[in-house]
Amino acid sequence: MSYAIIGFGKIGQALAHAFARKNIEVTVASRRPPEALASQARAIGPTVVAKSLGDALEADTIILAVPFGEHREVAKALPSWKGKTVIDATNAFPVPEELDGLPSSAFVAKSFTGAKLVKGFNHLIAATLDADPIVEGGHRVVFLSSDDEDAIAPVAALAKQLGFAPITLGKLNEGGALVHARGRTWGQLIFQDLFKKEQ
Ligand SMILES: NC(=O)c1ccc[n+]([C@@H]2O[C@H](COP(=O)([O-])OP(=O)(O)OC[C@H]3O[C@@H](n4cnc5c(N)ncnc54)[C@H](OP(=O)(O)O)[C@@H]3O)[C@@H](O)[C@H]2O)c1
Repeated sequence: MSYAIIGFGKIGQALAHAFARKNIEVTVASRRPPEALASQARAIGPTVVAKSLGDALEADTIILAVPFGEHREVAKALPSWKGKTVIDATNAFPVPEELDGLPSSAFVAKSFTGAKLVKGFNHLIAATLDADPIVEGGHRVVFLSSDDEDAIAPVAALAKQLGFAPITLGKLNEGGALVHARGRTWGQLIFQDLFKKEQ
């Protein structure tokens, strides 16, 4: 598996720290050239490597950590998303646009035709996501939801590798609704910083 984080702001860097903590390679990219991100990436850890957007999108699993409205621009950067997994960490906040009555991640999924989309890593504020997810024998919970049943298991495996306790919520418009945001309307699990004790 190869991983890329698109968007290297608060959430992108929080996730880069999680990869670095476990010595897992990840590329990071934004609209700026890689040279502009390189020193910050290196400061996070040697496994975090800045690349151009095009090069980063060669990874097979791509974490979307850009402002909600920018997801279309990222989607346009590849002619086909077939074979890719997109982990949608965005929240539709603030959201000036209609979402066609869809949960925000189902709306995002429309732009990434052919990709498997899993919503996750979106329910905590960046500072919390940035912190070590292993505390007093417990693992910080992340919630995963997807309309593609097969897509969740590899993302759950990644979350575990990063030290989180993944909890699967099911489809985007079912359990996934608990972690959806639209404007200032937050799903009930958003901001809930939960831990799962080691068994
Ligand atoms: N902040 C939080 O506490 C929090 C919590 C949960 C979820 N989220 C969600 O996570 C996402 C990112 O939030 P954030 O707080 O990390 O935002 P941020 O600090 O503003 O960072 C956004 C990043 O996206 C990059 N970017 C913007 N447009 C892009 C494009 N078209 N292609 C590639 N990169 C692009 C920006 O870099 P360049 O300008 O260099 O392109 C920047 O690195 C949002 O959807 C937000 O709703 C945020």
